[in-house]
Amino acid sequence: MSTVDSGNGPIVILLGPPGAGKGTQAKQLATRLGVPAISTGAIFRQNMADETELGQRAREYMDKGEFVPDSVTNPMITARLKAPDTANGCLLDGYPRTVDQARYLRSTLDSMGRKVALVIEIDADEDEVVSRLLKRAQQENRSDDTEPVIRHRMKVYREQTEPMATYYAENDQLAVVDGMGTVEDVWERIDQTLVHAGLVQP
Ligand code: AP5
Ligand code: MG
Repeated sequence: MSTVDSGNGPIVILLGPPGAGKGTQAKQLATRLGVPAISTGAIFRQNMADETELGQRAREYMDKGEFVPDSVTNPMITARLKAPDTANGCLLDGYPRTVDQARYLRSTLDSMGRKVALVIEIDADEDEVVSRLLKRAQQENRSDDTEPVIRHRMKVYREQTEPMATYYAENDQLAVVDGMGTVEDVWERIDQTLVHAGLVQP
């Protein structure tokens, strides 16, 4: 494997609109890279289920489809990046989500002598992702999977996360993958992207 950050394994970021398939693809992607997958949304949901203070704080924002404040999210990620299991790389699903978070991540990784190897954006059209999430609402009962909140999450994505993709594109770290089609179709495209980036062998 190529050395991408001072001898450590790769740090890969997965981004894309709500319902694009980040969580679905993250499992296979993390396995292929041999790194743990970290989802900020999943950490918040676990804390909500456990009724921790962090969970109560996150719920105020998540149920409205707003971002949890950086004062909560950034230190949580820093702690996670300093845990021993991420020393050999990790897959970040849902973080960073704003240009400010991307800058924060860069300075945190700089101080650790590490850097992001690749950013994969899963692209999918709005009608498709809304229909996937409404279907998931019936199966999983996630509190932010109601149509008005889904639409709001899409708006927040367009306004706050899409500019971040440009930030990474300017540094040649961004690969955009078509998220339409079956889960297997999308996985094939992601796998090819990893090979192309030199992160895995064909
Ligand atoms: P988060 O949990 O990250 O949610 P999200 O970005 O809205 O995205 P989803 O998890 O809904 O979609 P996904 O892309 O993972 O799709 P999935 O694979 O599940 O964040 C939730 C909230 O937490 C945020 O709104 C915010 O409040 C807070 N938060 C998180 N990170 C934060 C941060 N960095 N800063 C501040 N706040 C933060 O797929 C969706 C459905 O489609 C599934 O049912 C799946 O089975 C199905 N599906 C997937 N792929 C396909 C396919 N190819 N064809 C058909 N169906 C498919
Ligand atoms: Mg997800």
